[in-house]
Amino acid sequence: MEKIDQYAVFGNPVKHSKSPQIHAAFAAQSGQQLHYRAHKVELGRFADAAGQFFHNDGKGLNITVPFKLDAYEFADELSGRARRAGAVNTLAKGEDDRIYGDNTDGVGMVRDIHDNLGWEISGRRVLILGAGGAVRGILGPLLKQRPEHIVIANRTVAKAEKLAEIFNELGDVRGTCYEALDGGQYDLIINGTSASMSGDLPPLPSQILSSEGCAYDMMYGAEPTPFMRWAAAETAWAVSDGLGMLVEQAAESFCIWRGIRPDTKPVIEAIRQSLA
Ligand code: ATR
Repeated sequence: MEKIDQYAVFGNPVKHSKSPQIHAAFAAQSGQQLHYRAHKVELGRFADAAGQFFHNDGKGLNITVPFKLDAYEFADELSGRARRAGAVNTLAKGEDDRIYGDNTDGVGMVRDIHDNLGWEISGRRVLILGAGGAVRGILGPLLKQRPEHIVIANRTVAKAEKLAEIFNELGDVRGTCYEALDGGQYDLIINGTSASMSGDLPPLPSQILSSEGCAYDMMYGAEPTPFMRWAAAETAWAVSDGLGMLVEQAAESFCIWRGIRPDTKPVIEAIRQSLA
């Protein structure tokens, strides 16, 4: 009997992951035979679980919180963007049985912002809120779009300054704290903090919004996030959550594994409906 190729997302927690639904839709769309499941890995057991998965003929893994650094260490080879992100969200077994690590989060976000939403990044003044792992993952692909500059604001300013130092060879990146934002104006603001999850919002002065611009939250849910509500209330800005990024990063992983680029639009719509 012909074996069906096995894929999975490893995380903890992982029960609410949309990845199985997304990859099943991509497979159906392109007539591919594959299995994709969500697997909860115990903390400290990532290398064992991933080793076993690939030993048992697994073809590819997505990695979510809190294992992206473990996956980075597990990979035999890393893409340039994974190395710069310091994290891996996609593992693929090569023909030579080596495990290749990549990071598709940043390119997924750029595709959503630029291709799906039609928002310009090139030449724009970009403000990023937060300086954790999620933000580190997106900085390289964002800088490739040649924004005028990127300011990273974070509660713990040293983390923002550190990221600016890592990435400033790719463009003009500065790190600061929220309180120091008063003077500047921005065309695109991206919320990469986990504050939305607790219903919080970093303290943001309303003058930072230019007369027209865009606000993107990397989080998503059935309702607009507090950050989206703040931006929409202050101005007539275009706002979006990060659901499109979720689907686009998955599409890039699918492309790495299967060599086929899925049509993401109907999948974004289907996942949006399933949230309602
Ligand atoms: P992730 O992998 O999701 O980026 P993380 O590395 O823990 O998670 O980073 C979380 C980010 O959200 C950080 O920038 C954090 O700010 P600090 O570095 O100062 O901790 C930010 N964050 C979390 N809760 C916040 C809140 N209530 N207000 C402002 N920033 C918050």
